[in-house]
Amino acid sequence: MRRILTYGTFDLLHWGHIRLLQRARACGDYLIVAVSTEEFNRGKGKKTYHDFETRKKMLEAVRYVDLVIPEENWEQKIADVKKYEVDSVVMGSDWAGNPNFEVLRPHCEVIYLDRTEGISTTKIKEELGQ
Ligand code: CTP
Repeated sequence: MRRILTYGTFDLLHWGHIRLLQRARACGDYLIVAVSTEEFNRGKGKKTYHDFETRKKMLEAVRYVDLVIPEENWEQKIADVKKYEVDSVVMGSDWAGNPNFEVLRPHCEVIYLDRTEGISTTKIKEELGQ
């Protein structure tokens, strides 16, 4: 069984997220999603509309997702890969080459998938805010 892990905020769940999750799941047999906590987002200066528990519940309702865990800091990734026996970490292409994921290469495969054009949480917030 190939185990896949991805990280993200997944606020205002949208089509770009669903496509990412669908393609990440298709890289293996079991998809774990690490979702950023309020505290981790605060540290990044990022504010979400939905709180952690709501974003977690919404992701658990997506058929491609097998397990949701919290993303609490930048340093947990190697431990996550080991703990969950992850074969591949999959991220959208906006993260391609990012040291936070490149550092995982001795431990698992790292895959970047093309982002879906024309949609993001930021864009939804901006356009509805007008
Ligand atoms: N993602 C994607 N295509 C999009 C938007 C996001 O493939 N159009 C992917 C990201 O690359 C990441 C995951 O979905 O691997 C979670 O991204 P997240 O940052 O939560 O979503 P965004 O919509 O990019 O949010 P924001 O605008 O706040 O950065």
